[in-house]
Amino acid sequence: MKAPYDLVIAGGTVATASDVFSADVAIRDGRIAALGHDLGAAARTIDASGLYVLPGGIDPHVHLAQPSGEGIVMADGFESGTLSALFGGNTTVMPFCLQEKGRSLREALTAYHALAEGNCYTDVAFHLIVSDPAPSVLGQELPALVADGYTSFKVFMTYEGLRLNDAEILGVMDTARRTGALVMVHCENEDAIRYLIGRHEAAGDVAPRAHATTRPVAAEREATHRAMSLAEIVDVPVVIVHVSNGPAIEEIRRARARGRKVVSETCPQYVMLTAGDLEGMDWEGAKFVCSPPPRDAAAQDACWTGIEDGTFDLFSSDHCPFRYDDPTGKLNPKGAVNFRHIPNGIPGVETRLPILFSEGVAKGRIDIRRFVALTATHPAGIYGLSTKGSIAVGLDADIAIWDPKAERTIRHADLHDGSDYTPYEGVAIRGWPATVILGGRVMIEEGRLVGAKGAGLHRARALSSLTAPRPL
Ligand code: URP
Ligand code: ZN
Ligand code: ZN
Repeated sequence: MKAPYDLVIAGGTVATASDVFSADVAIRDGRIAALGHDLGAAARTIDASGLYVLPGGIDPHVHLAQPSGEGIVMADGFESGTLSALFGGNTTVMPFCLQEKGRSLREALTAYHALAEGNCYTDVAFHLIVSDPAPSVLGQELPALVADGYTSFKVFMTYEGLRLNDAEILGVMDTARRTGALVMVHCENEDAIRYLIGRHEAAGDVAPRAHATTRPVAAEREATHRAMSLAEIVDVPVVIVHVSNGPAIEEIRRARARGRKVVSETCPQYVMLTAGDLEGMDWEGAKFVCSPPPRDAAAQDACWTGIEDGTFDLFSSDHCPFRYDDPTGKLNPKGAVNFRHIPNGIPGVETRLPILFSEGVAKGRIDIRRFVALTATHPAGIYGLSTKGSIAVGLDADIAIWDPKAERTIRHADLHDGSDYTPYEGVAIRGWPATVILGGRVMIEEGRLVGAKGAGLHRARALSSLTAPRPL
């Protein structure tokens, strides 16, 4: 006779965004079927004594296989990027589908899906980057894509070729208002940055450190304020992604105090790195070039406070990997002599959760419930992944079993991404995901890959909990 359950995770401590309790978790047909004790027979039992049983991580901000300029190649496609994510305790990642200027988003999505299909170790759900908000894109294409389950758009206030002006951002926000999509904004003032780059180049100041000094806090703070003001004008919620510093956080708190719906996100780089890291010898500072740039100790403290006090809803990796010692990466012929041509972005999809667990939970800055909220429950609700993000009967059996006592030192040699370095080399970590289960299938068992490529699927999304009509 077939056992009633496919798998039972027994004896662990289950943590959700609201509760921590001891329970067995029973799984059937890819979903969580029961929680409790003495649940009965299962085809297989995993002993989780002494371990945390957590919802699989959802990384709501990663870049995979994204076109990045002539001669530049992103270090991860879907295979290595999702494998790395899986080893880091994630079961879903949310990459960006980039619209190239003059092209349709549907065409870009078709290409991304072709790259992802059959190659993923975690589930994936795409955000859309709108770089060309032509009337047909705003009027027809985006509404149709929202109806198909692509329910969030990212817009940029910086990067030549990608940035939108304020009127264009308002147009995208208006489309979001009509469709229920959620707009994510990269907040940096491009004109100010261009001006500072010109000044630095005129002075011959072109080493990686100049990346940080040409993208000052005020450029991010001003753009953060502007993005939230534009959202207020159109009356839509807005997500401020990868926030790096205290003054920008203060703007977010002020907007919320005015009653605005603002979601905010920070990332490991803003609590672990500083602009000083960009000063490495032999151009090694290029390894830490990302935007906004890492700041200083005070900014790190401000980000921790925001993580602790609930200002931040999301803790993403903004995994945007390039190889360092490679002519297609950070040390491309132009990037090796001028910071302006160093591709922006750093790897981190595998280290995001261990860093937050170790620096946050193990060091007592946050409790395990807040860890779960920031890394799984909030991303699921905010981005409409309605069957994910918690441990509850009926949800997808996406589970990471964590050993809170595991001691590791981050070494790139042990990671699984396609880059050739980690910005966190040598960082000591306490707490690591030992076993990772995707839709009821054991993918990683005690640190070893046992699952197959292709187990991860694309997931169409519902509307965000912030925009969806409320049920009666
Ligand atoms: O430097 C970064 N963050 N690159 C990734 C693209 C983005 O802005 O998110
Ligand atoms: Zn960005
Ligand atoms: Zn990003």
